[in-house]
Amino acid sequence: MSFAEKIQQNKGLSLALGGLLATGGLAYYFYNNFKGRKEGKRGCPYSAQKIQSVYDKLGGKENIAAAVSKFYDKVLKDDRVKHFFKNTDMKHQVKQQTNFLCFAFGGPNNYVGKNMKDGHKGMNIDDSQFNAIVELLAQTLTEMGVPQDAIGEIANICEPLRKDVCFQ
Ligand code: HEM
Repeated sequence: MSFAEKIQQNKGLSLALGGLLATGGLAYYFYNNFKGRKEGKRGCPYSAQKIQSVYDKLGGKENIAAAVSKFYDKVLKDDRVKHFFKNTDMKHQVKQQTNFLCFAFGGPNNYVGKNMKDGHKGMNIDDSQFNAIVELLAQTLTEMGVPQDAIGEIANICEPLRKDVCFQ
């Protein structure tokens, strides 16, 4: 075999080897990316991250119902706000508030009730009373072991309701 032929043969071999390595590398990359996605890890910087809703962070409807029930126990003992509820059917209220908050926190929508403007009409709730309600909700969730960042998210979800709840 001439020197030129040897070079030619080596070139062919290198090309075949290079192709094999490249294919293997690509296959390995896609395998890991796919596996990473399945395991919920970020496979590559462009893959979509699953954003967990507050509803999921709290563990769904059952936990939210338990929190709402504990929350209203506190509300009914709190001199700043308890007088608002003296004629309220609290069983109905817990159910309504649970469904409302499930939806507001990113869960399913099973709320059948008034919108927040109509629901608080004639109560003339002021800002400090609104703050008291949010504070009691945060206190309840803290006692139940909900992390502070999730409680912060919940306060942010409640805040835009202030304009509909207050001074109606
Ligand atoms: C984050 C703020 C609040 C949310 C998300 C909220 C949510 C709700 C919901 C879903 C209902 C039921 C409406 C229906 O059944 O159609 C309701 C009723 C009621 N809310 Fe609120 N509320 C908030 C703030 C407040 C505040 C600050 C007060 C008073 C201090 C208050 C007092 C009441 C009362 C007394 C009722 C029951 C009315 C009745 O007996 O029919 N709420 N609220």
